[in-house]
Amino acid sequence: MLSQELTNNCTPFAHSFGNDVSAAVIGASGGIGSELVEALCKLPSVTRIYAFSRTKPQFSNPKIFASTIDLEKENTVAAAAGAIGAENSALDIVIVASGILHKQGFLAPERSLKDVDPESLSAAFRVNTAGPLLVAKHFHPLLPKTKKSVFAALSARVGSIEDNHLGGWYSYRVSKAGLNMGIKTLSVELTRLRPLATCVGLHPGTVATKLSEPFLGRAHKGHVFTPDVASTNLLQVISTLNQKDSGFVLDWSGKRVPY
Ligand SMILES: NC(=O)c1ccc[n+]([C@@H]2O[C@H](COP(=O)([O-])OP(=O)(O)OC[C@H]3O[C@@H](n4cnc5c(N)ncnc54)[C@H](OP(=O)(O)O)[C@@H]3O)[C@@H](O)[C@H]2O)c1
Repeated sequence: MLSQELTNNCTPFAHSFGNDVSAAVIGASGGIGSELVEALCKLPSVTRIYAFSRTKPQFSNPKIFASTIDLEKENTVAAAAGAIGAENSALDIVIVASGILHKQGFLAPERSLKDVDPESLSAAFRVNTAGPLLVAKHFHPLLPKTKKSVFAALSARVGSIEDNHLGGWYSYRVSKAGLNMGIKTLSVELTRLRPLATCVGLHPGTVATKLSEPFLGRAHKGHVFTPDVASTNLLQVISTLNQKDSGFVLDWSGKRVPY
């Protein structure tokens, strides 16, 4: 378990990525994203972490370079990639941990068709679908050509078409299903551009964050992870990925989520 290895000071990351690992987390202000940055920091083999969010995230560890990305402004994504490139860094791991489900005033998960409106759909699409693809567009040149690397975007089980038995949540479901297709399509292109890169969607499980908060009342059934446990789970999955996983969505335990 990664959690044990964190305390033992030895890391599966070293086995997978070598001893001088660089990682980038986009959405580093989020519940899961901020814990991913903290957990990466504790891994001895991870020597550089680039942490991005809309407002500059605050971290004190000197391993961390913090700056801004707004996924709805492509120039900020390009500038962030440029800043990493200027440090002459390659990235072994890129994790897009951003996403929206609700936003006061204009985006709320739809209960039924009567709630669907184009602005909610496009707002979810801009952040959840286009956002990770823009990161891939500008960050993939930073992935090494001759060494294993991972591009992961946090998706969600509700983006699975086959697994959709409850309905509702049109904007979120559609945007995550679109992301999953984006991941699959990217995996095809990466076999040519970065043959040693693995590209996946990751479902973290239900995690207690701002995003899930309105839906975790008494009616909620099932396990809820804390963000620190969720981040450890996700890093555990990332450390065991190989190329046969590329293009798929995996859950927090490493199991495939159906398309
Ligand atoms: N929590 C769960 O139960 C759960 C379950 C399944 C999947 N997920 C997925 O996991 C990911 C992380 O969610 P979370 O629970 O950690 O949510 P969260 O705490 O609300 O964090 C969301 C993050 O996304 C960022 N973000 C939103 N819009 C952005 C934009 N335009 N540009 C850049 N960053 C933007 C937020 O930045 P700001 O701070 O600037 O708003 C924040 O850092 C999401 O993709 C979510 O869909 C979560």
